[in-house]
Amino acid sequence: MSDVSERFIIRGGMVLSGTVQIRGSKNAASKAMIAALLTDEPCILENIPFSEEVAITRELCERIGSSVTYGDDHTCNIVTPRIREHSVLALSRRNRIPILAFGPLLARAGTAEVPFLGGDPIGHRPIDFHLEALTRMGATIERRERSYYATAPYLTGTDIEFPFPSVGATESVLLAGVLARGTTRIANVAIEPEVENLIAMLTAMGALITVEPEARRITIEGVQQLHGVRHRIIPDRNEAVSFAVASLATGGEITLQGATAAHLGSFVETIRATGGTMTELGDDMHFGQAQKWLTTDINTAPHPGFMTDWQQPLAVLLTQARGTSTIHETVYEDRLGYLKDLARMGADVSISDECPEGNPCRFSGRTFNHTARITGPAALQGTEIEITDIRAGMAHIIAALSARGESVISGTAHIDRGYEKLDERLRVLGADITRV
Ligand code: UD1
Repeated sequence: MSDVSERFIIRGGMVLSGTVQIRGSKNAASKAMIAALLTDEPCILENIPFSEEVAITRELCERIGSSVTYGDDHTCNIVTPRIREHSVLALSRRNRIPILAFGPLLARAGTAEVPFLGGDPIGHRPIDFHLEALTRMGATIERRERSYYATAPYLTGTDIEFPFPSVGATESVLLAGVLARGTTRIANVAIEPEVENLIAMLTAMGALITVEPEARRITIEGVQQLHGVRHRIIPDRNEAVSFAVASLATGGEITLQGATAAHLGSFVETIRATGGTMTELGDDMHFGQAQKWLTTDINTAPHPGFMTDWQQPLAVLLTQARGTSTIHETVYEDRLGYLKDLARMGADVSISDECPEGNPCRFSGRTFNHTARITGPAALQGTEIEITDIRAGMAHIIAALSARGESVISGTAHIDRGYEKLDERLRVLGADITRV
């Protein structure tokens, strides 16, 4: 585990340029490890990133009864001959993955106890969609002092409609529906590439799943058992965006090796709209500088919209565009808190609870500060910053890299949860960053 007293010291002003290999997606890898719990046969996962999130998920699987080994070249072997432990309370508040274990645990043990979830403090983050769906499928779920305790002799397919296309809830129902009795039909699902990657794995394990992406509908025909699989984790879209913006914001150009352009459509559109370039070279993506950065207005949204995890790095780039840009965060109600730190560094930022004119979202008329206006260009100055969440932390790091002077950034554990050896890889690109 990362040392909580660790800090990054960044001396800004270096241009970050070069080539970086994009690792496997943390958000897909952790779900694939949970999917492996659905069978007693071995599963081999390729392109696993060695991030803390994966380490926490490994611990979760091992407590449940898996034997997990890492092979060469980012491969993970995971086999769960039997469910040894249906309660994973020890992993309380470390991340958001335990809730996904409900499906496999109920299918194989009939009982499951998961702790209250952790993860980034970016809003209320309820799990009502998960709990309601599992209850509709026949689980009895009791809220205890520190946990949710569920039992079900078996789960039964049913019709479910989510109020919002939640990634986690879609994954929860997939993981529960594949071994349920009968047909589960889910409406208003998330169709993020990570969800597709999970579906690909489950299908290769023998699950019967039909996806209608345009209609946001998934149909699952339950089967009696699933088998082992060899499955490849998709590249991490968030890491790709983070490296691209880190380079562009410092005046550099970067080639991302092994990134999937098709998963980054709305980001690429935004970079082009603000004056930057993107060229595809086989499996690689090359991002180039703008002659001058232009303003833009973005709305975060479920895929294929502009992902909520990308607005934080992008905000730093927008501090360099002449004029005012808008970020309208419509997925999480409280995901703009990091901007006050950018303001301390010299960014001209204002935050409001009102939606941009003529563009209402589900937070309209409520008191959530979810719209930001960023006016540039601004000369950023290094400072001391405490990271409180992973993507905000990435914005802080990019701001520090492009600022004048030194920044001291604490809370590195949040970064290590999602990025493998970020500091080392930034140094290769030319960053002056040390971990102390
Ligand atoms: C996942 C990603 C996260 C990303 C997010 C949206 C992981 C580990 N994390 O988070 O990086 O930002 O998707 O792309 O994969 N909601 C409810 N009730 C629920 C579930 C969700 O109200 O039961 C709401 C949330 O509060 C939020 C919205 O739905 O406002 C979207 O959340 P969701 O898609 O579920 O995010 P996660 O799966 O937690």
